[in-house]
Amino acid sequence: MPATVLVVGGAGFIGSHTCVELLQHGYEVVVVDDLSNSSPHSLERVAKIADTAVPVLYVMDIRDRSALSEVFRAHPIEAVIHFAAKKAVGESVGMPVEYYDNNVGGTTALVSAMREHGVRRLVFSSSCSVYGNAVKVPLTERDPVAPTNPYASSKWLCEQILTDVCRRVPGMNVLNLRYFNPVGAHPSGLLGEDPRGVPVNLMPYMSRVAHGRLARLRVFGDDYPTVDGTGVRDYVHVMDVAEGHRVALQHLDDEAGMRTFNLGTGVGSSVLQLIAAFEDATGRRIPYDVTDRRPGDVAALVADPTAVNRAWNWSTSRDLAAMCRDAWHFQSRNLAGYAD
Ligand SMILES: NC(=O)c1ccc[n+]([C@@H]2O[C@H](COP(=O)([O-])OP(=O)(O)OC[C@H]3O[C@@H](n4cnc5c(N)ncnc54)[C@H](O)[C@@H]3O)[C@@H](O)[C@H]2O)c1
Repeated sequence: MPATVLVVGGAGFIGSHTCVELLQHGYEVVVVDDLSNSSPHSLERVAKIADTAVPVLYVMDIRDRSALSEVFRAHPIEAVIHFAAKKAVGESVGMPVEYYDNNVGGTTALVSAMREHGVRRLVFSSSCSVYGNAVKVPLTERDPVAPTNPYASSKWLCEQILTDVCRRVPGMNVLNLRYFNPVGAHPSGLLGEDPRGVPVNLMPYMSRVAHGRLARLRVFGDDYPTVDGTGVRDYVHVMDVAEGHRVALQHLDDEAGMRTFNLGTGVGSSVLQLIAAFEDATGRRIPYDVTDRRPGDVAALVADPTAVNRAWNWSTSRDLAAMCRDAWHFQSRNLAGYAD
């Protein structure tokens, strides 16, 4: 029997790419998603790429404990990947309660259901934003954590909760993955990042500017202490992130308890460097304006990926050009996202 994995938030950007990767490697996939930032059509695309049936989707909020319990009752779930969260840094500054409620409340509800049903294996989506204003890059997992906004704080709280749960619950194994900046799309052009409303992340916003759906890109601040004054991030191809989750499942039982790994490439790029790479890869020009810094943003976040490279004998393999090319391929094939 193939192992069944519950993918919470599986209709979203990283979740849907991970579903493809799991289905292509013989896993059964069950998805829970409230579709608050995604479309059910993403899972139809997943099935098309993986050449399988559309994964079972429960449209529900994970904080609905009785509905979640029903899902665990209905499927022989062996491991859970927890992607479901609100993720916009700027929005979180204005909506802290909603962010803590959804991200922390969702995680406690999920872990309660896992305990109730004897499921002890979890891969958790954390974020490099927990490192806050990094004093130096690249960052190792041992560097200090100092979140600067409610989104990052919500992820750090979840990490602490999961650490405590692992201490208390025998056999509970959690892989806590701190993603840097996932971008790009499936190379088929069928699957990509299609958030509801105006994108808050740079790459989907830039793709829409390139296409003319949005007029100009805003670059938030050019007075950071970086190579050209704009924020530096470690962009990582979403296909590498998806592959990383499949590999993580194979390593969940390597050690007991909670383990934390950075998921990034180790290469930092400024906003202006990303714009130049996108223009090179796509032949499109990106008009932009420099505006004030955005509250909660930091100068530079770049991963030291050594720990994950060593522990799993695995590393990311796709470069910035591939990230830009694939993001644009998805955008140009799906002018109105999955609605097409
Ligand atoms: N994309 C990034 O740049 C990035 C970086 C670091 C960490 N992360 C983390 O990775 C995870 C996935 O991110 P993504 O980019 O795929 O985001 P996404 O918004 O595309 O996917 C998240 C999914 O979770 C769903 N969801 C949210 N709250 C829910 C709830 N209460 N119940 C059920 N479903 C719910 C949304 O509808 C969405 O489909 C998130 O936890 C995010 O914080 C993302």
